Amino acid sequence: MNGKFDADKIDALVDARNGRITPLIFTDPELYELELERLFGRCWLFLCHESQIPKAGDFFNTYMGEDPVIVTRQKDGSIKALLNQCRHRSMRVCHADSGNTRAFTCPYHGWSYGVDGALKDIPLEDRVYPQGACKEQWGLLEVNRVASYKGLIFGCWSDETPALEEYMGDIAWYLDGVLDRREGGTEIIGGVHKWEIECNWKFAAEQFASDQYHALFSHASAIQVLGAQPDDEGSKKLGAAQTARPVWETAKDAIQYGQRGHGSGFFFTEKPDANVWVDGEVAQYFRDTYQEAKERLGEVRALRLAGHNTMFPTLSWLNGTATLRIWHPRGPNKTEVWAFCICDKDAPQEVKEAFERSATRAFGPAGFLEQDDSENWVEIQKVLRGYKARQSKLIVEMGLGNEKVREDGIPGITNYIFSETAARAMYRRWADLLMHEKWADVEKATEQFEKELV
Ligand code: FES
Ligand SMILES: [Fe+2]
Repeated sequence: MNGKFDADKIDALVDARNGRITPLIFTDPELYELELERLFGRCWLFLCHESQIPKAGDFFNTYMGEDPVIVTRQKDGSIKALLNQCRHRSMRVCHADSGNTRAFTCPYHGWSYGVDGALKDIPLEDRVYPQGACKEQWGLLEVNRVASYKGLIFGCWSDETPALEEYMGDIAWYLDGVLDRREGGTEIIGGVHKWEIECNWKFAAEQFASDQYHALFSHASAIQVLGAQPDDEGSKKLGAAQTARPVWETAKDAIQYGQRGHGSGFFFTEKPDANVWVDGEVAQYFRDTYQEAKERLGEVRALRLAGHNTMFPTLSWLNGTATLRIWHPRGPNKTEVWAFCICDKDAPQEVKEAFERSATRAFGPAGFLEQDDSENWVEIQKVLRGYKARQSKLIVEMGLGNEKVREDGIPGITNYIFSETAARAMYRRWADLLMHEKWADVEKATEQFEKELV
């Protein structure tokens, strides 16, 4: 390994056993380059939802790390992911966010590729390549592996990484709480909100994995305004005074899960109560579909209508709120947020619209909860511009030593919801990935870390 960070130095950046991390992991350009190569170059990354490319010739433009990638539906119904980079001189061959096409034609000199990535046409081919062009070798580069999980499409550049479901591990159980509530599965409603925030991607990914704690304080005013006593039917009225006891006092249980970089947190409530900020139609829909969800997923996940989650590294979602997002890295100091509204395909149209309204109001680019969150991350990034600020270690110690494996079917390494188990696991996984060239060594290191926990 070249540069100032060898494996031992990276190891020392994340002292998860004592709950300390070095701020450099959020600021250093060399570490960022290593992330692009070893983390984004090897992990399974979310690309788009199958509902966004239903027909042959449909495409959706996204990124894997900083690499632009076109996801396309082939004639035979299969899905390919292609590097959006002309083989001639690197121009982007497709600029639209999404659409349907028979060809991707490069706007620079007009080379034209099929939706399978094959190079079909070179303008004036006989004149510019009198000896003949190697068209069959000059197709768009293809992402090595593409796989779907219950409607979500993922891509992976490495052949060494385990299959998608193995990579997901127990986070799949948590994700099913969104993807598998009803027979018809899910779909994406409307377009994708995209905006930039001036902070490292890990602040966002970590918070969705591990940080319910901030909500007590950062979102206190918003929750107070929206908080309401359930009326007799159990519905909630927006704007009513907050008189109920806080959920962390009333919940039957409160759980954080964190393992292999993934993380999740939720309160275990007794009724299918939706978040206080969703429209009444959404709350009613959850009550109406509770029985079906319970039959499919069991009581815990059917009741789990609030909760935060990250599938390592950059896919996050909130149960009940219908926001699913990806944190595209844009250098150590910047993140491009892409927020999708996901909901059950079989939901009535007016409920889908209510989901979209609710998600946008709370977690759209100007969402009142989103603003609270990004304000924190952006300010931290500014603080870390200071030299002194980068010398002290951050304290990631909450709940250290209290990790356990439960016996009630809630899987994985868990802790009390207000802990930093998932953050420690995420940064440890981050370090393991950056340190080791072979995936087998990454796994070995992660397993060793987990063995010491439980
Ligand atoms: S860069 Fe695409 S045709 Fe030249
Ligand atoms: Fe938040």
